[in-house]
Amino acid sequence: MTSWTEFWGGKHSIYVSARHVEAHFRRLTEDLAAALPPQPGLRILDYGSGDALGAPSLAALGHQIALYDAAPEVQARIARRYDGDPRIAVLDERALASSDGGFDAIIVSSVIQYIPRDALPATIAGWRRLLAPGGILVIADVMRPDAGMVEDVADLLGFAWKEGFLPAALLGLARTFFSDYRRTRRKLGLARYTGREFLELLAAGGFQAEALPRNPGPNRHRLGFRGIRP
Ligand SMILES: C[S@@+](CC[C@H](N)C(=O)[O-])C[C@H]1O[C@@H](n2cnc3c(N)ncnc32)[C@H](O)[C@@H]1O
Repeated sequence: MTSWTEFWGGKHSIYVSARHVEAHFRRLTEDLAAALPPQPGLRILDYGSGDALGAPSLAALGHQIALYDAAPEVQARIARRYDGDPRIAVLDERALASSDGGFDAIIVSSVIQYIPRDALPATIAGWRRLLAPGGILVIADVMRPDAGMVEDVADLLGFAWKEGFLPAALLGLARTFFSDYRRTRRKLGLARYTGREFLELLAAGGFQAEALPRNPGPNRHRLGFRGIRP
């Protein structure tokens, strides 16, 4: 595995069961919706959307959703899934590059760790360009330097207990232990930030930024942020 995009484009077992995927996107979408401005009709970009199973629920709140994922296989899958749904568009790199100023909100969940540290300032500048003045950037799932695999496992087990998929989670953890994910994590690493460091990066990228009191989604140990593009 030479990149995280290759990992996410391939077959993986990060979600331990259908119930896990469903519960993950349900919780994440509810939390992200709560971090967005309350009015309907927002043009929202989900950047690094993955399978984006929450997109129809966000669209049902009256928003227009655009999905972008860097893995071509994921792009193709979500394009097939939402083909014909006028509320949900799937963007490729070209469409994204010609969308400056075209969004009222951008959500970025569980993606920061896969962006190399030295590429993040340019990526943040790109998000600023994509937002209209007054637009909101919501970031979820930033990994802290002082939290690792143990905290991720604790979060998964706690979530699985609450959502009723604990046996599948235990099996899934055993599978992950022997999987590409662990090897890839060791080889490519994951970008981690303290809350303060991340706020400084957002401010340097031209955002008025604040830490969210709670990370959106099921991972209790990770960090969430909101930025306003002035
Ligand atoms: C852990 S999944 C997150 C999916 C979804 N946002 C969520 O929170 O459940 C990470 C996704 O980010 C995508 N990704 C990784 N690096 C990216 C980048 N630099 N730009 C856009 N997408 C990226 C991967 O292809 C993958 O689908």
